[in-house]
Amino acid sequence: MLVDQLGRPLRDLRISVTDRCNLRCTYCMPADVFGPDYAFLPRAELLSFEEIERLARAFVNLGVSKLRVTGGEPTLRRDLPDLIRRLSGIGGVQDIAMTTNGLLLPRMAADLKAAGLDRVTVSIDSLDPEVFGRMNGLGTHPQKVLDGIEAALTAGLGVKINTVVQRGVNDAGLRGLWLALRDLAPVRFIEFMDVGNHNGWNMDSVVPSREVLARLAGDDLHFTPVNPEYRGEVAARHTDGQGHEVGLISSVTAPFCGDCSRARISAVGTLYSCLFASGGTDLRGPMRGTPGQAALDDAGLEALIAGVWRERRDRYSEERGELTAASREARAGKVEMSHIGG
Ligand code: GTP
Ligand code: 5AD
Ligand code: SF4
Ligand code: SF4
Repeated sequence: MLVDQLGRPLRDLRISVTDRCNLRCTYCMPADVFGPDYAFLPRAELLSFEEIERLARAFVNLGVSKLRVTGGEPTLRRDLPDLIRRLSGIGGVQDIAMTTNGLLLPRMAADLKAAGLDRVTVSIDSLDPEVFGRMNGLGTHPQKVLDGIEAALTAGLGVKINTVVQRGVNDAGLRGLWLALRDLAPVRFIEFMDVGNHNGWNMDSVVPSREVLARLAGDDLHFTPVNPEYRGEVAARHTDGQGHEVGLISSVTAPFCGDCSRARISAVGTLYSCLFASGGTDLRGPMRGTPGQAALDDAGLEALIAGVWRERRDRYSEERGELTAASREARAGKVEMSHIGG
């Protein structure tokens, strides 16, 4: 079995299909950086659906059984259901999920489901229109996301909800959000992370998951941990004993690098072995070939990917605690979240 330097297998592939988004979340694509003049990737740079399918097949041959389509916002990629149909036709793929802000789901959920998508993870950070509007950078109303969640459920897609927590920004509304959404889908609260280079992260803005849980609990509510569904599950799930679940994603206070079996490819076909990597491996060039260099065949492509995985030693979230603020900031040029989609 293919394992990396820390003995971790390759199980999970996350594929970014666009670097564009129809929101400007302050912690991901702040509007002052990703403004009207921002140079997003031209279409010709993006991997074609044929190329994505070919890559996915290579990863599946190396052990991947879970695929996640991300962005930016993946629903902005034209003809996305065609890609999902290709991916769901790959033998050995057990689960196809998509990370989305939900805005376009009322239009697309049924087609995505019909194409073979199993489930969506929808991000919503607050139900307060003012707070959510500020966090998403464009004043977009939370009802638009709720409509998307509803559409996904109606289409028969599995749904999980992701909420990034920032102290002093949306933490006051966490209990209300959970109470309002818990009957729709499991909510997962994510500790704000220092991804990318523009989100002004510092430890003070992180609300540790144990504090989130304490805020959700009350006289009438007690949580007990639930066993992980699979090894390396990112969210630590808890149940309230009344049929509702909450997930805590504690990449800052309780890193989960030890079981990390996730590879990520950007929309241009760069392979990243960690969410916090400052560099990756170009797969598109070798796949397409150049005038001086013949294109790789499937076996060559698999060997290239396997070589990267075998050398992998990433464990950034575990190392973060060992870094000083200065050395963390000196680690410039981390890949942007909008390039690999979380
Ligand atoms: P399931 O298959 O539904 O369990 O999905 P998941 O929880 O693995 O995936 P999702 O993309 O929804 O993860 C939720 C959030 O957790 C992401 O948006 C990231 O913020 C964070 N996250 C996921 N994977 C990693 C990882 O490998 N490292 C770190 N540091 N954070 C991660
Ligand atoms: N910290 C934690 N989560 C983040 N996400 C984006 N940026 C960050 C960050 N800095 C989340 C989004 C979405 C997923 C793609 O990643 O809210 O749920
Ligand atoms: Fe868009 Fe998601 Fe980033 Fe928000 S977090 S800007 S919705 S890609
Ligand atoms: Fe995996 Fe890197 Fe996240 Fe650790 S920080 S869990 S190695 S992606």
